[in-house]
Amino acid sequence: MSKFYITTAIHYVNDDPHIGHMYENVVADVIARHRRRMGDDVWFLTGADEHGQKIERAAAKEGILPIELADRVVAKHHELWRKLNISNDDFIRTTENRHRLGVLELIRRIQERMPDDIYLGEHAGWYCQNEETFIPENQVHDGKDESGHPVEMTTERNFFFKLSRYTQPLLEHYGNNPGFIYPPTRMNEVVSFVEQGLRDLSVSRTSITWGIPFPGHPDHVVYVWMDALTNYISALGFGSAEHDRFDHDWPADIHLIGKDIIRFHAVYWPAFLMAAGLPLPKRVVGHGWWLRDNQKISKSLGNVVRPYNIIDDFGPDPLRYYMLREMTFGNDQNYSDEGFITRYNGDLAKGLGNALSRSVKMADSYFGGKTPPMHCSDNELKQTAELLVPEYLKAMEDLAFQRGLETAWRLVSAVDRYIVACEPWKHFKEKGADEALARILWNCLETLRIVFVMVAPIMPSTARQGLARIGGDPDAIGADDLAWGRLATSVPIRSGDPLFPTIDASAYFAVDRAASSQLRPGETKTMEETKPTTPPPPAEPSIETPPAAPPGVARIGIEQFMQVDLRVADVRAAERVPKSKKLIKMTVFTGQEERTIVAGIATKYAPEDLVGRKIVIVANLQPAMLMGVESNGMVLAASIDGEPSLLSVDAGVPAGTKVK
Ligand code: MSP
Repeated sequence: MSKFYITTAIHYVNDDPHIGHMYENVVADVIARHRRRMGDDVWFLTGADEHGQKIERAAAKEGILPIELADRVVAKHHELWRKLNISNDDFIRTTENRHRLGVLELIRRIQERMPDDIYLGEHAGWYCQNEETFIPENQVHDGKDESGHPVEMTTERNFFFKLSRYTQPLLEHYGNNPGFIYPPTRMNEVVSFVEQGLRDLSVSRTSITWGIPFPGHPDHVVYVWMDALTNYISALGFGSAEHDRFDHDWPADIHLIGKDIIRFHAVYWPAFLMAAGLPLPKRVVGHGWWLRDNQKISKSLGNVVRPYNIIDDFGPDPLRYYMLREMTFGNDQNYSDEGFITRYNGDLAKGLGNALSRSVKMADSYFGGKTPPMHCSDNELKQTAELLVPEYLKAMEDLAFQRGLETAWRLVSAVDRYIVACEPWKHFKEKGADEALARILWNCLETLRIVFVMVAPIMPSTARQGLARIGGDPDAIGADDLAWGRLATSVPIRSGDPLFPTIDASAYFAVDRAASSQLRPGETKTMEETKPTTPPPPAEPSIETPPAAPPGVARIGIEQFMQVDLRVADVRAAERVPKSKKLIKMTVFTGQEERTIVAGIATKYAPEDLVGRKIVIVANLQPAMLMGVESNGMVLAASIDGEPSLLSVDAGVPAGTKVK
């Protein structure tokens, strides 16, 4: 069994985590889960970066101590990682004693092995407070660094690390280990940066106190990046009496980080380790950024998107799926609420969920609630699965999660096509539940079993639920389980509500989630359009996490119902809302006035079909912005699998008539 040590960046605690942080931990979790099932002895570390000026300032702004802020935000981290089923083995905080010991030991080893590598010196240069680092002259334009953060000319008398000495050794290391930095574009960037020659790095600060005191010089604290990077070894016990895990797991197999902090991980960190005589990590993997309107999502840009609403409404898996399916690993990707719902309805509700419920329902009714009594080892689904499983494994190996998921969904489509071609319902009518029908349906369930095993690292609770429904073993998600033929015959299956109930996007967007989200004024919500109407269908409770909202609708009294002002209205004009596939903006006459109502009905109705129609509206709803248009009311429609069907009244009923 080979060991596999994977780490994420440790996240700053000046603010609650957002979807960028979440993506990183989900990707690391997917890799960890996949490696575990491939038989590796995995150790997965994440944590919190708690020292430095950023945190000191954020706490001062709130009038609290840095540690109070850190404790509060770390609690949020734990809560989010638990809700998302992140399977980390450890969580390191840089304020822990074990971490301090690790940092002191790293410095001690550098000083012992390379006595000239840390020296007291003076440095003047452009300092970026946001990045807590000096920025080279050629990257400063108009008083800002390349990310647009302000820089200040600063002179410091600090301890310096002789980074310049490591220019050549680092270039040699990159040359000898072409996979050291991934993807290759990042490697090229780092090589050209180092080729320009490295300057010594200041590794202590006197301007702040919130940090680890520099050994022998308590008026200095250790530079936050030297402090933070050491988490990868301090968490393993480096510098402590108990260092078995360090001996076993170091060097890291993957440091997973965002592309903005590659330089710290692929230049500074290996140089520190070389100086201390420690082995270098095997791979530094840089993922891309989640963007909003083409800008990096970040606290400093004020365009943060938080994942809480979606997780509360859908459970963790749909968002995990969306992020891995939507982003080509390594590239940047815009986040959009509509994109999430489109993927959810298309791939999960109509795709995997539908293939599952069709297959299970047929097996349920034709074979008495059990898996069919016949195996089958010669059929087209088996051939397709055997072709696609190696492609999927290769994609996972390449960290091409998008490709891996596409491959799994090719198998879902194969099940759909097979059902259409075999027409099991017709077969049953003509020949009854014979052996041939048993084989057909067993093949469908067996293929879905393989799909659930494929998606298990990405959607762990969905995989468990899906496997339980088809009569499989929810724990059988190992590499061996990707082989054809494992589904038992004649064991109970579980039909039931859809695994992914279809969401009526317009109704979903119309619900005000501000109360349930943990947003502060001015922040962007995960679902940006607002206003209460109907709640979304509840997601099925996941096995591994606390359930989302429970199904069922509470009863109300007649007086509550009478508070809703339902009226007949005439549609006088209608047009599509630009950039929206679903929304139509209508001008309606309510008997007293004309008003604008936006409704998510464009998938079924063209604007010209609506003009002249009589509809029923909720007339006393507070206004809401939908894709930038103010909507004053809501149109009533039945929803058939998300497809709207408008309520109408007889032609002679005048606009404004009350509906009750
Ligand atoms: N504390 C440092 C890392 C020290 S590691 C020794 C830090 N923290 S951070 O909170 O700003 O970022 C943590 C991780 O989240 C980084 O890998 C960063 O790239 C990632 N992301 C932050 N915003 C992101 C997006 N908008 N999109 C994707 N990931 C991003 O840097």
